[in-house]
This record gives sequence, C-alpha cells and structure tokens, in this order.
Amino acid sequence: MDPISVPDDTAFAPAARAGEDVLVWQTSAFNSDLIAVALLEAMPGPAMVLNRQRQIVASNSQLQVMFTTTDCESLIGRRPGEVLGCVRARERVTGCGTTPACAQCGAVQAILESLATHGRAVTECRLRTSFRTSSGALNFRVFATYAEIGGEEMVVVAFMDLSEEKRRKALERTLFRNLQDECTRPLLHAGPVRNDEVAPADETEFLQEFGDLSSRVLGQIEAHRQLLAAESGELVVLERDVDIRGLLEQQIAVCRKARVGRGREIGLYTEGFESLRTDPVQLARIVDGLLSNALEATPESGRVEVCATHAGDGLTLTVHNAGVIPLDVQQQIFQRSFSTRDGEGRGIGTYSVKLLVERYLDGSVEFTSDETHGTVFTVAVPDRALGRRAA
Ligand SMILES: Nc1ncnc2c1ncn2[C@@H]1O[C@H](COP(=O)(O)OP(=O)(O)OP(=O)(O)O)[C@@H](O)[C@H]1O
Ligand SMILES: [Mg+2]
Repeated sequence: MDPISVPDDTAFAPAARAGEDVLVWQTSAFNSDLIAVALLEAMPGPAMVLNRQRQIVASNSQLQVMFTTTDCESLIGRRPGEVLGCVRARERVTGCGTTPACAQCGAVQAILESLATHGRAVTECRLRTSFRTSSGALNFRVFATYAEIGGEEMVVVAFMDLSEEKRRKALERTLFRNLQDECTRPLLHAGPVRNDEVAPADETEFLQEFGDLSSRVLGQIEAHRQLLAAESGELVVLERDVDIRGLLEQQIAVCRKARVGRGREIGLYTEGFESLRTDPVQLARIVDGLLSNALEATPESGRVEVCATHAGDGLTLTVHNAGVIPLDVQQQIFQRSFSTRDGEGRGIGTYSVKLLVERYLDGSVEFTSDETHGTVFTVAVPDRALGRRAA
C-alpha cells in the first residue's frame, strides 16, 4: 500500500511543496556531493533529482538542453510535468501530479513507488504537452531510484525517450501485419483468376477487390507519411469545397469493407450542408480514426451512428457507439501510443485526430462517455470560406 497520504487539495499525489529555504538547502546538499553530481551528469538522457514533494532540486545538462534552459536554477522547485510541458500540470494551481488523470501517469506512479518502497521503479509515461508556441506528445520510459543525499530523502529520475521506438512500431504494424492481413484474401483468389477457373462475373468482383485493396494499402501508408509530416509541422493543408455527405458516405463504404466494419451497421445522418471549405484528405482521416474506434468497440450486429450538421460557422461531426469507456481509459485518450488493444504499434488514432483537428483544421475534438448516452466523439471544424471572407 502507498504510505503517502493524499491531502484534500489533490486528486492523486500530495500537493504540498517545500519552502524556498528548504529547497535551497536541498539543492546545495546535492551539489556538495560531487560524485552524485557527476553521476547525474553522466546519464545518457535527461535526468533530475526530486525531493519528497517531487520538486526538482538538481538536473543534468541533457534536461536543460532539452528544454532550452541555460539557467539550471529556473528548474529548481518545479515538478517534472511542469518542466516537460504536460497539459495536466496546468489544470490546477497545485500543478503536476494532482489531477484525477495523474493517477494514470507513469512518471508520478514511479516516483511515488520509489519513495514508498525506498527502491527503484520503472514505468512508461505518455504526456500530451503544450508550450507557449507549440504542442505535442512525449513518450518516455521512466526510471525512478530512491536515494538519501545529505540526510534528505530524494528520488533520482531518468528519462529514456521512446518516441522513435513507438513510431517505428506503428509503421511496422502497418507494413508487416496490416498489409499481410489485407493481402491474404485477394491473393488467395488470384490463382483461380489467373488460371481462368472463375466465371467472368466473379472476375469482376475480384478485380474490384484488388482495387479496394490497393486503395486501402496506399491509404494506410499515406496516413503514416502524413502523420509524420503533421508532427513535424510540415503538413500542407488543402482547401477545397467539400461535399460532406459524399465524403462521409465514401469513408463509411471503406470501413464497411474493412475487417473492423464487417457485420456492423453504420447509420448516417446529415443536415444543412451544401459544401464546406476545408481539407478533405485530413477530414477523411479524422472520420476514419473515429469510425474505426467506434466499430472496434461495437460487437457484431451492433450499430454506430455518424451525424454531421452545419452548425453556425462550420461542421459539427459526431460519431456514436453504445458502451462506456472505463474512466482510466478516458483519462488517457488522445495520448500518443496509448491503446488498450493487443499488439504493438497502436494508439495513434485519437492522437492523430486531435493533432489534425486542432493544429491543421483549427477545430476542436472532445468526447463524452456514460451509461445513458454511450460514447460520443464530437469534432467541430470551421468553414474556411467564412474565415477568408471575414479576413
Ligand atoms: N469509441 C470508442 N469506444 C470505446 N473505446 C474507445 C473509443 N475510442 C477510443 N477508445 C479507447 O481508446 C484507446 C485509444 O484509441 P486510439 O484510436 O488512440 O488507439 P487504438 O484504436 O488503440 O489504436 P490505433 O488507432 O492506432 O489503431 C483504444 O485502445 C480504446 O481503448
Ligand atoms: Mg484507433
């Protein structure tokens, strides 16, 4: 059991912080231990030393470079999430570790465990970040090790960046697993078609299936390419007058043919659209991400509802499925590489949706999930034609 008491002003880890004088003393206690300073500096990645209140009392130059901080003192007293730009750390004045969602944070968990056991804890940590000029995602393996330095209880926390590893795994999943699965069925039919063993009518069906396969395969590869471009800020937004109903019908048809859609009903309701000026490629990806998730959460013969309305100055799109997302899962949705599904390389669906909607289409995305209404993801996307007229 975690022996650390949780005061009322926090929803998870203790909120109280050490006073200024205590921090100064702890920092100088650490810095006077030259071996400890050298070991911290020798770590291959960013690392920090925290006091019992999870405040930084020392950091290595890797961490300072990572956050373009030249003055080590400015990190002192702050908590890990506050330095790393975690969006949760800004939700409450009490800062990092104190929101309900912090219970799912690997970094806070490792630090608390290490303090409680006087030992070492290793976890994985996914953060959604927001700095003054940019937002993004961080994915670390966190190593928290208890240490008594100058008679003070401290935790040495080292971070290993997993972003590249996760990207590689997601790409591998598409290239090796998804494509293998997708290719198997039509290839099984290819032999009989080649050997003229099927009737011409069936041959048309096979050709259709090959055509669909090519589109799906190319679509998956292109989605990865565009996600990388989106993350590095290089995605070029198209502007077209988009027939929203047509786009939704097309995406629904694609999902119906994919494994995830088989045996499920997809309802479509649209209201008030002639066309909307936006990026049809990104909008299609957003619909695909939300629809795939809703279908994956729906049992066979279950139903998913897609609804698009022209509300005010843009599109409001909802995707509904029955069933409730557990609270601990809700708290981690939109994090890069968070997934409850089997296999590696997943967890980019809702992250991509949020990135594309907010950063490239100037819109917003949110969800609700409860017993009465099931799960509803809502995307709002402005009509770019209106923005241009106003400008
Ligand atoms: N509509 C939904 N209903 C129920 N659970 C959902 C829904 N949407 C998302 N989730 C949950 O959120 C998790 C993260 O979703 P996300 O789309 O980001 O990744 P993924 O679907 O697991 O993998 P990927 O999209 O990369 O194939 C899912 O694993 C699932 O547990
Ligand atoms: Mg998904």
